[in-house]
Amino acid sequence: MRLTDDEKAMLDGAEGPAVAAAMDLLVRYGEALDAEHLCNIRNVAGTMTQPSPAKAKLVAEGGWDKAFSVINLDSDADLEIPDMRVPTCQLQQGFGGDSVGIAPYPKQFVELQGDAESFYGRKGVNILATCTPYQVGNLPVRGEHVAWMESSAVVYANSVLGARTNCEGTASTGAASLTGKIPCWGNHLPQNRYGNHLIDVRIPVRDFFDWGLLGYFVGDLVQEERPVVTGDLAIPELADLKHLGAAAASSGGVELYHIPGITPEAPTVDAAFGPRPVPEAVPYGPSERRRMYEALNSQGRSTDVDFVLLGCPHASIDQVCRAAKALEGRTLHSGTQLWIMVPRALKAIADRSGYTELIERAGGRVLADSCPAMSRSAPEGTRVFATDSAKQAHYLPAILGIEAWFGTLEECIDAAVTGRWAGELR
Ligand code: F3S
Repeated sequence: MRLTDDEKAMLDGAEGPAVAAAMDLLVRYGEALDAEHLCNIRNVAGTMTQPSPAKAKLVAEGGWDKAFSVINLDSDADLEIPDMRVPTCQLQQGFGGDSVGIAPYPKQFVELQGDAESFYGRKGVNILATCTPYQVGNLPVRGEHVAWMESSAVVYANSVLGARTNCEGTASTGAASLTGKIPCWGNHLPQNRYGNHLIDVRIPVRDFFDWGLLGYFVGDLVQEERPVVTGDLAIPELADLKHLGAAAASSGGVELYHIPGITPEAPTVDAAFGPRPVPEAVPYGPSERRRMYEALNSQGRSTDVDFVLLGCPHASIDQVCRAAKALEGRTLHSGTQLWIMVPRALKAIADRSGYTELIERAGGRVLADSCPAMSRSAPEGTRVFATDSAKQAHYLPAILGIEAWFGTLEECIDAAVTGRWAGELR
């Protein structure tokens, strides 16, 4: 791989041993992927504070410097970690102190995470603590090279914002945060950003629920490739595209899609495919929609619902507002809990706008920083949950061994109030 003079100097230790270890990792990573060079970046979304038993052990042995060296730099050396070289944020993490008594999450992890936040905050990590950094001020511009983790955030950054990132990992984002570099391959290269599948939507896709079903179909169809989606689509809002991408990254591994006329790199169908011929379209109609709905509800048997989960990816403030309005004047069933997951910065807005109060008055909770899948933590005794998120319906049954129902926001709120699932495909 070709290195610039400043990259060679970093590799040779001119900026200290931690930066040298970071550059060494990036060179090994880039060479394994045949990258010709590194991209300059100024935006990293990674994970440093998320607690784990392995991290607790490393911190006990050598503090947070040791934990970062081993987990975020793949190095066993005793390194002192310098400040982040470029703006870096923490994605979702474990539940925080304000979830104690609500989420059954180990107290020692809450404490470890608090300690991590202090350490990494001092190093220049913005503790956004959300899988949706783009909802709380981290908005790379079109064409910008970034290094992000979290599949739902990566697909949003590439497709909706037109930024360029591969689905990075804990170590590559750690190395990127200390160097401002990432191997230039995959989605960073213009020739890899053109579509290679065409999906023709032949039924109206108008709301959050239907954007999720469509995303689930798209991911299942193209797996890790690049779909271009056209047809009977309403102009989506942020939450719709958040759901579409997260669903496509769950049933498949989609990191980049185009919607001609909507997403920035696809003003037209032809532009979405660039120099390549436009392929024959695959239809998405009533039978495909039904098949996705049935797949997402295949883990549901009992209609007694213990737990309702909204906000995956973390809810937008408009989603929180809608949930609050749907709960106004209602009370949750005595055997059912409702959690709405949000970025902490939006929780402050929900509190200030009175949405949290409406939700809590009904018996629900607005929780920040994490989610049941990330923290492997749902209300005690949960056997059956309902959600409006295709991603949670896809993953949570396997992670927690529970049954799942997938439906609309209204159906989920009704389930929280009645304790029964009565959703159906309309
Ligand atoms: Fe976010 Fe958890 Fe969903 S991290 S994308 S709410 S699985």
